[in-house]
Amino acid sequence: MKTIIHAGAGTVAMILIAGFLTATLISELLLDATAILAVKKAILAGLCLLIPALAMSGGSGFSLARGRLSPAIERKRRRMKIIAANGLLILLPLAVLLYLRATAGLFDILFYGMQTLEVLAGSVQLALLARNFRDGRKMTRGKRLAAAKTLNAI
Ligand code: HEM
Repeated sequence: MKTIIHAGAGTVAMILIAGFLTATLISELLLDATAILAVKKAILAGLCLLIPALAMSGGSGFSLARGRLSPAIERKRRRMKIIAANGLLILLPLAVLLYLRATAGLFDILFYGMQTLEVLAGSVQLALLARNFRDGRKMTRGKRLAAAKTLNAI
């Protein structure tokens, strides 16, 4: 059950970040200021789901990994620390600042500088989550295979 909650929360986080990135790129490259502002507002609202999803996935992950040692777990731990720092110290402040600037109609060089940084940091976040997802699937598959072998040997 804990594994399902863990993987489910991680999947929700990945879908949200991929959605934020897609909506950002479409609105800024193809649409107008009203659409950009709507996306900035939606991202702020989406953060109310993204932050708990990341906390749930990270918290359950650390709990699943308690007392276990493996290179994959170490990689996931390390990535999770970067994910948390990137999210709280870079992506969250940028989402608020970009929203405030879009509300004020300030689509200037600072806005686009911060926007570029947000897209880069968001892409890194998505890549780290995807790697944690892939390592998690490998670990669970390995465990299932070992269990099946034990059963066959009996
Ligand atoms: C938010 C980032 C993370 C994502 C997206 C993620 C994703 C996943 C996925 C998809 C699985 C496989 C579940 C299944 O096949 O049913 C999994 C398993 C696992 N994850 Fe994560 N994970 C994340 C963070 C972490 C962290 C930080 C740790 C702790 C270091 C961790 C530890 C584990 C463990 C131990 C398992 C194996 C559970 C088992 O089969 O016994 N995960 N994870």
